[in-house]
Amino acid sequence: MAEEKVKVFDTTLRDGEQSPGCSMNTPEKKRMARQLEELGVDIIEAGFPIASQGDFDAVREVAAQAGTKVRVAALARAARADIERAAQALEPAHHSRIHVFLATSDIHLQHKLRLDRETALQQIGESVRLARSYAEDVEFSCEDATRSERAYLCRCFQTAVEAGATTLNIPDTVGYTMPREYAEIVCDVRRSVGEGPTLSVHCHDDLGLAVANSLAAIESGARQVECTINGIGERAGNAALEEIVMALKVRHDLVPLRTGVHSELLYPTSQLLSEIIGVNVQPNKAIVGRNAFAHEAGIHQDGVLKLALTYEIMTPQSVGVPTNRLVLGKHSGRHALQKRYQELGYHLEPEQLKELYRRFTELADRKKVILDEDLVRLLQHMEQPLPTNV
Ligand code: KIV
Ligand code: ZN
Repeated sequence: MAEEKVKVFDTTLRDGEQSPGCSMNTPEKKRMARQLEELGVDIIEAGFPIASQGDFDAVREVAAQAGTKVRVAALARAARADIERAAQALEPAHHSRIHVFLATSDIHLQHKLRLDRETALQQIGESVRLARSYAEDVEFSCEDATRSERAYLCRCFQTAVEAGATTLNIPDTVGYTMPREYAEIVCDVRRSVGEGPTLSVHCHDDLGLAVANSLAAIESGARQVECTINGIGERAGNAALEEIVMALKVRHDLVPLRTGVHSELLYPTSQLLSEIIGVNVQPNKAIVGRNAFAHEAGIHQDGVLKLALTYEIMTPQSVGVPTNRLVLGKHSGRHALQKRYQELGYHLEPEQLKELYRRFTELADRKKVILDEDLVRLLQHMEQPLPTNV
């Protein structure tokens, strides 16, 4: 039997782009979209066409350049003008999706939308029907789903399905839920709408749980995950695509599902996004951070040099990082120092290594990271004759 797939819905160009300092113009979005397509995501949410002429143009141009293997989505509130604008922007795409949303928590209904529950239900039905008149593929999201009253949330989704929605998204808009609760919500929604529609999850990282929550929902039956490269997005960000993809790949023994993502393109894609928006990822960011495959502690370096698996659960090559980096600093051991000298072309005799290591640790007490130039300088200042440069 073919292994089940989790669809990857990338919203870097929509939810990600909405976050401060991460905006992209049309050529930048097109460049990023090309890379996302190569990466192998299933759906690219290209923007929110009603928001501005720029957003409309970007969605239209991304739709026009997209190939046949990817679906391009555009966001719309549950309102005629939004849906018509989204449909127009998506016209050139081979495969398109209109993504309609309406908030369903009482806090949003009463204070933001000033809508009563019954009127909101009606609006969901009408807007999804309208979207279906433009597109075969319609996603409906209950914004703030995780703070919506459960029975009402299920009614909203049932209404969307009756009106023709093919994917139901359950966003944790404010990053409030926790894995067990989110898993339960997915099960409740599944029970209320039956097996037909694809259930989707969309998590924000306000409590640092976006990836954990997404995985819990996938284990409960969600088969679409919404995420962004480098986890960019509103406030604390969205669930990071690279983390979800690699969690599914590395722990395939626990969650036997696949994605269509080519993992060796994760790092280049992360780098491209950083270059485009001018925002670097934190050094200790999982999968794509500068230190994600760097080892400084002597014991770790020694282990990695003997067998990388001792301290690495995936290879750097599997995510497109050229090689693991042994960072030389005060925690490094003699073995790592010797290896770096070898890489620099120096073969050290045991006595020379001993003396150099002593000098190296003295220097490392004063300097956080030791660069190759420092190592060469250390060698040059040795009283003993210089070792052979091979
Ligand atoms: O976080 C959210 O609720 C959203 C929706 C528009 C899907 O981004
Ligand atoms: Zn969101």
